[in-house]
Amino acid sequence: MAKVKASDIDFDNLGFDYFDLPYRFQATWKDGKWSEGELTQDNEVHINEGSTVLHYGQSDFEGMKAYRTKDGSVQLFRPDRNAARMQNSCERLLMPKFPTDKFVDAVKQVVKANEDSVPPYGSGGTLYVRPIMMGVGGNIGVHPADEYLFRIFAMPVGAYFKGGMTPTNFTTSEYDRAAHKGTGQSKVGGNYAASLLPGDQAHKAGYSDCIYLDPVEHKKIEEVGSANFFGITKDGKKFVTPKSPSILPSITKYSLLYLAEHELGLEVEEGDVYIDQLDRFSEAGACGTAAVISPVGAIEHNGNKHVFYSETEVGPVTQKLYDTLTGIQFGDVKGPEGWVVKV
Ligand code: PLP
Ligand code: COI
Repeated sequence: MAKVKASDIDFDNLGFDYFDLPYRFQATWKDGKWSEGELTQDNEVHINEGSTVLHYGQSDFEGMKAYRTKDGSVQLFRPDRNAARMQNSCERLLMPKFPTDKFVDAVKQVVKANEDSVPPYGSGGTLYVRPIMMGVGGNIGVHPADEYLFRIFAMPVGAYFKGGMTPTNFTTSEYDRAAHKGTGQSKVGGNYAASLLPGDQAHKAGYSDCIYLDPVEHKKIEEVGSANFFGITKDGKKFVTPKSPSILPSITKYSLLYLAEHELGLEVEEGDVYIDQLDRFSEAGACGTAAVISPVGAIEHNGNKHVFYSETEVGPVTQKLYDTLTGIQFGDVKGPEGWVVKV
């Protein structure tokens, strides 16, 4: 199939869809070491049918973005954090780690090679970058594979949740996403396979996605299937986000915790967010690389709908957090040292 050309992309109407851009990076782990890796045009992965990724889900991934700035250059946001989180995920699944400097260099190679597909400044779009790692080779036993593929591809994206900065509604799920001592902290494929059914139920019922509760008592909010959760207390003074061993440590969330405290002068708390105490909050949001900040209009739980600030308007603190975060990402606002890396 023909590759997607930048001239064919409608940058003003991007969703979150796969594009076969011209280049991706691939490195292989064999005999205990990584190959140098190289850019390739082939968007298909050819692997043995006995590969652990196919049977036992030995795979992890990352999600990050490249941003076009006003002067036309392109930059990444905290790519070293994605490298480190992938290394943690690899540790959990007994996969080899891809070194941080090589990870960041490979991401830059992919972005540069597809640079004309990085959406223009002001379009609201970004180039989403997806590093993946998988266990491959004829290895049918339930043991870690001997060989691995590390690949990075990219695609131009717009808003992940349809509303963008217009609030959308979420529902709690009766399913669990992950167990406390399971793999919730790791960005592994199996977590997302487990989230397909609850996510589908939420979508069919008209919600943007579901919100998972703690797997022990189903009393506390954990996170959204594709983003972390935060609330702003009624007095407008505190940024609160759940703390749990089974949620993914969101790079966006930790960036917001820092910005809320140091740029907006808010108090910050990582703690318990009880589903029957949502009255504490005047605003709520989902945050992540794909989600950016997506305001939560309301949460439906056990037949009760709790509306936060509004179902149609974003709240003032959420808006300020969004402006500060995206200002840094698109190069309009100076961020903390090292957050932004030029491609
Ligand atoms: N939670 C889940 C389950 C996710 O898939 C993601 C996306 O990466 C996040 C949270 C947000 O993490 P980050 O801000 O690092 O993208
Ligand atoms: C991201 O925000 O990068 C994600 O990976 C979330 C989702 C698309 C799975």
